[in-house]
Amino acid sequence: MIYQIYPRSWADGNGDGIGDLPGITARLPYLAELGIDAVWLSPFYVSPMCDAGYDVADYRDIDPIFGTLADADALIGQAHDLGLRVIVDLVPNHTSSEHEWFQAALAAAPGSPERGRYMFAEGKGPDGAEPPNNWQSVFGGSAWTRVQESDGTPGQWYLHLFDPGQPDLNWENPEVREMFLDVLRFWLDRGVDGFRVDVAHGLVKAEGLPDWHERTGMLGSHEEEHEGDADQAARAPMWDQDGVHEIYREWRKVLDSYNPEGDPARDRILCAEAWVEPVERAVAYTRPDEMHQAFNFGFLESAWRAEDLRTVITDSLDAADMVGAPSTWVLSNHDVVRHTSRLGLEVGVQRPNGIGIGDVQPNAVLGARRARAATALMLALPGSAYVYQGEELGLPDHTALPDEVRQDPTWERSDHAERGRDGCRVPIPWEAGDTAYGFGSTWDTWLPQPEVYGTLAVDRQVGVAGSSLELYRTLLATRRDLDLGVGELAWDTSFGADVVAFSITDQDGEGIQVIANLGDEPVPVPEGAQVLVSSGHLVGGAVPTDTTVWLRRT
Ligand code: GLC
Ligand code: CA
Repeated sequence: MIYQIYPRSWADGNGDGIGDLPGITARLPYLAELGIDAVWLSPFYVSPMCDAGYDVADYRDIDPIFGTLADADALIGQAHDLGLRVIVDLVPNHTSSEHEWFQAALAAAPGSPERGRYMFAEGKGPDGAEPPNNWQSVFGGSAWTRVQESDGTPGQWYLHLFDPGQPDLNWENPEVREMFLDVLRFWLDRGVDGFRVDVAHGLVKAEGLPDWHERTGMLGSHEEEHEGDADQAARAPMWDQDGVHEIYREWRKVLDSYNPEGDPARDRILCAEAWVEPVERAVAYTRPDEMHQAFNFGFLESAWRAEDLRTVITDSLDAADMVGAPSTWVLSNHDVVRHTSRLGLEVGVQRPNGIGIGDVQPNAVLGARRARAATALMLALPGSAYVYQGEELGLPDHTALPDEVRQDPTWERSDHAERGRDGCRVPIPWEAGDTAYGFGSTWDTWLPQPEVYGTLAVDRQVGVAGSSLELYRTLLATRRDLDLGVGELAWDTSFGADVVAFSITDQDGEGIQVIANLGDEPVPVPEGAQVLVSSGHLVGGAVPTDTTVWLRRT
């Protein structure tokens, strides 16, 4: 069980309206009580924040917004004292344009070793005035920006699959490889337990950088534009090139060299963020000598339909078995509309990249109900599960954020066609009666909180039967007690097509039965079964629509 902290938005220790490391450290006991195993922290490195820290200017230091290296050490130490492991975010596809390497590349001449660390190329057309190829940035607009040479003339172009402030590194260059091996060691030496690897499928580009006829959509929502040819979508020249795997095999050796002997539970781990289809190609990242886990975005993308869920669960487990890795499960993160909001939209519509004023608004009651049912389904599944900060409170996205406060570069770069990801990044509510609902000592937070966050604050939910927080605690405690994470799944089709039902059995033959009812008719709880936990109220001994129960047969 891994809990994602988005440092800007979890807890503000010094009252500047932005979350920070001391704020996180002070709140860690909350996570120990929640019952998770590890925290993954989104980037906290020195950064000009063009992409909220996913543009790193110094991989070996903390941005002053978040604190200092001493604060990071204190956080890691405190987490370990509480029995929590710490996974940090590594961003190897690109640096910030303010990284000293990129600054040196700008100052140096075309063809220099400094430029050779990035993806510089001559433009096309008369005077090289057109970009080297037609690739688009994930955030919208061209993926190329032209630089001025030191004599003031328009010069070469550099590639940035994301914001212009995020120049792509050249992973064919051994110096780049060396640098990241050093960065891994730097953080392992400070005691971290692993890395979440950003854009793990992007590091190597196809030779010759051939044109690509589609929008560069890394976040699944655009991928559907490929009209069904998932394999072709996955082989876009900027994604999932075979050469990436060699890099991770090298990293794995470094991590393994830090594993404490005789205690496999403390192995250092790598987790890939790889938006790769089909699932057979995605699991290549978790072969035994590569990463330990990869996010299962297929599960996150699944429509709220019983058949779709069964298919994605079966496919995920089969694929993970092919490489002997645990499957993973995730419903929310800092890049997608929170599942409480997402599931309140019409079933089967394409997941929007952000929701704002003037957009179709989610049905909040329906979304909350389905989100609880989806979570109860997810947390029963064998493998590793990822929870995004605040989902345990049932937080929706801020779906009425004023456009002028938006910070995600997507909003501007898409010419206001896509609102982007700010709605899921809003500061967390802790105490309903305090400033910023306990997030910090000022109401002037980097993104404003919606009023509903007050009613969902932690202190409104602790000890309240039926609250979202107590539901998560019960699910997590039961999952741990019964070792569901290493259980075996067997489908049960006796409840009909609209019900996702299965049993999870551990090695001793004990386990639970799970019923997630997505149909219109209530499903009677089988006789002799004891309800361990339910995502909503049972009605007359039956599981109503959009409700999941965990049962033990007696
Ligand atoms: C990953 C991050 C996302 C970021 C992008 C570029 O997808 O999760 O937040 O914008 O990489 O680094
Ligand atoms: Ca702060």
